[in-house]
Amino acid sequence: MIAKGSAVDETDMRADLEKVLIPEEELQEKIRELAAKIDADYAGREILLVGVLKGAVMVMADLARALHSPVSMDWMAVSSYGSGTQSSGVVRILKDLDADIMDRHVLIVEDIIDSGLTLHWLMSNLESRGPASLGVCALLRKPDAAKIEVDVKYIGFDIPNEFVIGYGLDYAERYRNLPFVGTLAPHVYGGSGEQEG
Ligand code: PRP
Repeated sequence: MIAKGSAVDETDMRADLEKVLIPEEELQEKIRELAAKIDADYAGREILLVGVLKGAVMVMADLARALHSPVSMDWMAVSSYGSGTQSSGVVRILKDLDADIMDRHVLIVEDIIDSGLTLHWLMSNLESRGPASLGVCALLRKPDAAKIEVDVKYIGFDIPNEFVIGYGLDYAERYRNLPFVGTLAPHVYGGSGEQEG
């Protein structure tokens, strides 16, 4: 466990890991690939990247720096009502966009698509604001956890339905700062297998 004392270091966090699922170098290589595709697809257009707090902070920061296209960045924070750790699809906006997205080329940036319910709601919400285009770039997707299909053009990795942490993803707000994606040892989270929502 990481709560051994006041100091929390990476060695403590690594002790809570079961395995590294996607190493840092693979994440960064994939982000460069995604950025190259996005640059090609959006050539000549300015992109408004919309990051979904908090998990998307890392992928947003790295993707934005890998893109050559001119971009603006904005952020939303949403919370899914639901029982326990599962997303319900009923979403509350905690922080809305600062900017009007009418006629803008909007690309939602997500860390993970689990059930797909959050993204489905977000896409319909943003679509109603009249963007010129609306796309999604998600670093991770769990096909076996999908409750609704969402049309996502840019996907980094399809991963098994395991509890993943790191590179923005948390368990009880911890582990977001690990530079790779890993799975958490069941003794840390109780072993339910459900991703925290
Ligand atoms: C995660 C993730 C997505 C959502 C995906 O956010 O960033 O927004 O869950 O789940 P879904 O596909 O089942 O709807 P979370 O609510 O954990 O907030 P966080 O990014 O602040 O950790």
